[in-house]
Amino acid sequence: MRLFVACDLPDHVKQLIARTVLPLHERMQGFSWTTRDQWHITLAFLGEVEDEKVDTLCARLEEVRSPFCDVEVGGFGVFPSWEAPRVFWVGVSLPKHLVALSESVWAVLEREGFVRDPKPFHPHITLARIKRISPSEKKSLQSLQMVSQAIRIGEFHLYKSELSPKGARYTKIASFVLGDEKNG
Ligand code: 2AM
Repeated sequence: MRLFVACDLPDHVKQLIARTVLPLHERMQGFSWTTRDQWHITLAFLGEVEDEKVDTLCARLEEVRSPFCDVEVGGFGVFPSWEAPRVFWVGVSLPKHLVALSESVWAVLEREGFVRDPKPFHPHITLARIKRISPSEKKSLQSLQMVSQAIRIGEFHLYKSELSPKGARYTKIASFVLGDEKNG
C-alpha cells in the first residue's frame, strides 16, 4: 500500500482556510482543488510498502521521541515557482521542533530502508494542483490573505493513500503521540 507520515490540522484552521479559498474555486477552472478531508502536513512520503512490513513500521515509528511543536499555519504560495506554478499551498512555519520531528521520523524510516526525498523539507498543505492559470488568476492567488494560525502539533500519523480518478483518499492507519504525554 501507498503510505505517508503526516500531521493533522484542527477543524477551526481548516474552516478558516476553506473560507479563504472557497471563493476561488468557481473562478479557477484550470485548478484541481483538494478537499478539506485531504488536508494534512506531510512529514515523509514512503511510497509503496508491502502489507507485511506495516506492523514493523508502526513499531519503529512508535520509537520516535520528539517534543510537540508549536507552528504557524498561514501564507499562500506555489511550487515550484510563480513562473510555472503547479501546486498551490498554504504554508507552515518550520520551528526547530518541527525540524527535529521530521529528522526523528526520517531516522527510523532510513533504518527501515526508506529513501528520503533529496528536496529540502518545506512543510505545507496542498490546496490545489494547477493545470492552467491565467495572469489575472495568478494575481488573485498572490493577493490572497489569511491571518496566520498558531497550532500545536501533539501527534503524527501513518496514512494510507488510495488514488482513483475521483481523487486521493487518505486513511489513518496509526497515530503516534509526541512530547511528555507519551510517557503518561
Ligand atoms: P503534496 O500534497 O505536496 O503533493 C500523499 O501523497 C502526501 O505525500 C501528499 O501530501 C504529498 O505531498 C506527499 N508527497 C511527497 N512526495 C510525494 C511523492 N513523490 N508522490 C506523492 N506524494 C508525495
